[in-house]
Amino acid sequence: MRVRLLITTERGFEGVAEREIWELTGRRAEPAGEGRLLVEAEHVHLLTLNYRSFTLHRVVLLLLQEEVDGLGEIYGAASEVAYEELIAPEQSFAVKAERLGEHPFTSQQVAAAVGQAVIDRYLRERGVRLRVNLREPEVLVRVELRGRVLRLGIDTTGRSLHRRGYRAYLHPAPLKPTVASALLRVAEWRRDEALIDPFCGSGTVCIEGVRWAWGMPNLLRRDSLLLWKLRFLPLRELERLADEAEAMVRRCGLEVRGCDISPKHLRGARQNAARAGVEEGLRLFRCDARRLEYTQDVVVSNLPYGVKLGSPRKVAKLYADFGRALFSGSWRRAVLLTARPELFPAEPDASFEVTLGALPAEVLVFRSP
Ligand SMILES: C[S@@+](CC[C@H](N)C(=O)[O-])C[C@H]1O[C@@H](n2cnc3c(N)ncnc32)[C@H](O)[C@@H]1O
Repeated sequence: MRVRLLITTERGFEGVAEREIWELTGRRAEPAGEGRLLVEAEHVHLLTLNYRSFTLHRVVLLLLQEEVDGLGEIYGAASEVAYEELIAPEQSFAVKAERLGEHPFTSQQVAAAVGQAVIDRYLRERGVRLRVNLREPEVLVRVELRGRVLRLGIDTTGRSLHRRGYRAYLHPAPLKPTVASALLRVAEWRRDEALIDPFCGSGTVCIEGVRWAWGMPNLLRRDSLLLWKLRFLPLRELERLADEAEAMVRRCGLEVRGCDISPKHLRGARQNAARAGVEEGLRLFRCDARRLEYTQDVVVSNLPYGVKLGSPRKVAKLYADFGRALFSGSWRRAVLLTARPELFPAEPDASFEVTLGALPAEVLVFRSP
């Protein structure tokens, strides 16, 4: 079965996500702005992308894309989708809508118009009034309106895939695991290379590194994926593919290290690594990143932004001291994520802007000469 998918990722990492989609499916995704990508794929890829990807947030089965003017046209367009072939009569549904741009109506009004279209169409085609369940719907219809472009689809993911389920300890400034994975890909880290995160916090970069190197799917999210509720999909086949992905995990030896100055965060990182099932793949230790000898091949880190440190002067001093230690080391590639790029003492070989939630940040890429 051919499917058209709308895939989301963190804004700024669309290129990384595009490469991962290519590796997993052999299909070229087309960037659609604001952390979105469109791709033509096969139904089996719904499992692959949801279960085996590292940088993706959500996979939506796209059913409709067209230009509309006003709520009346939104209702009309949404009425054209054959929900009777996608939702079983006893299943509940909900609509979530997002709006980008100026419109004389709210996202809730868009959701209400589409919800009404689903109910009316189902009643007409099947003689059944579908149940709405806003808290825990079995089928979640996602709608987005960007300017005049309406996209409507069925969510096959549910909670964003960056919620891996291994966060036993919540760091005050945690990095999304999808972003940590994207940074590792920007650094082109390979499993035979030594890796260090000198500001590891709750261990996200290291944990994602080991998961990636071992080929570990999103184990703790398997059961919560919404695709299992979609009865029009060949679910037995998708289950078999998920089992196969789990059987392919290879726990090879790695040199993955993380250090942090805070014993509390390190304890948390160990708890997270244990819950993720990767504790024997990494080594976490207490250390001041300014005093470390950087002999590993690859350095990947999410630098402190200074919320705890207070003044920009203190952040600049930390960055200067860390920069000195880093640049007297013998690494090959370093990728640093920071919301304060102007305070970093060295000019990167490359850099690009990203948005972490609502926070603008920059990825700095260094290569040793
Ligand atoms: C932005 S957080 C990293 C968050 C981490 N990526 C995560 O997902 O949990 C920065 C971390 O740097 C640590 N830190 C601050 N100064 C440090 C230093 N001089 N050496 C090592 N770690 C330091 C803080 O304790 C904090 O955990």
